[in-house]
Amino acid sequence: MSGLFITSTGTEIGKTLITATLCHQARKKGLQILALKPVISGVTDQTMDGSDTAVIAEALGMPATAETWNTLSPFRFKAPLAPTMAAAKEGRTLSYGAILDHCRRALATDQFTLIEGVGGSFVPLTEGKLVADWIADLGLGSILVTGSYLGTLSHTIATLEAMTARGLKTRAIILSESAPGTLYANPDLLATAEELTELTGLRVLTVPRITGQNPWQNAPDLTSVLAAS
Ligand SMILES: Nc1ncnc2c1ncn2[C@@H]1O[C@H](COP(=O)(O)OP(=O)(O)OP(=O)(O)O)[C@@H](O)[C@H]1O
Ligand SMILES: [Mg+2]
Repeated sequence: MSGLFITSTGTEIGKTLITATLCHQARKKGLQILALKPVISGVTDQTMDGSDTAVIAEALGMPATAETWNTLSPFRFKAPLAPTMAAAKEGRTLSYGAILDHCRRALATDQFTLIEGVGGSFVPLTEGKLVADWIADLGLGSILVTGSYLGTLSHTIATLEAMTARGLKTRAIILSESAPGTLYANPDLLATAEELTELTGLRVLTVPRITGQNPWQNAPDLTSVLAAS
């Protein structure tokens, strides 16, 4: 089994951007790669085109079809809420075993497999299970995606410590520059990265703010993290 779990300190931080970047860059280097976003909320069959799943599919060179959505994201919910809450709203139950089975089938292939989580590492996934349990049960190392906003140091260290306390291995931190102009935006990406390197002892890679429609096509080379699994 070779793969990595792409997790983060919260939602809208950059997991999908980093997942798509790694797919795009690995494929350019001729590596066999697959990425799943097994559980996704806030989507319907009519809105899949703008979803995380669609971004990852495009980076993988997969067509925007129902078959692709079912392969990459079989567990889909309408409400933009944590999976447990989104499932409850629809009167559905998300099976933890089914999520694990889907991921394990992909991990058992020859392709290097990235699994994008949902929200941060401690989001409730199914009854009694958090994303952190999911990472542990797959036995994968993680890439922790964090932002550069003011407050990120505390969020990153808290997430890292809680993951480590559960025996989870974080292979690298990728600091994706937060949107400018937000109340807590901190412009000094590199100083934040240096601080995080010192505080955590982990490798910290940075992705500056990228413009354009598909930022994953223009990110700095991140493929060194694939070797760290
Ligand atoms: N460094 C960056 N440069 C440009 N855009 C960025 C950068 N980091 C994140 N974004 C953008 O911010 C938005 C949120 O990022 P993304 O969708 O990757 O977050 P996420 O952690 O996957 O969120 P979710 O929890 O919903 O899955 C996206 O539009 C993404 O392209
Ligand atoms: Mg995402």
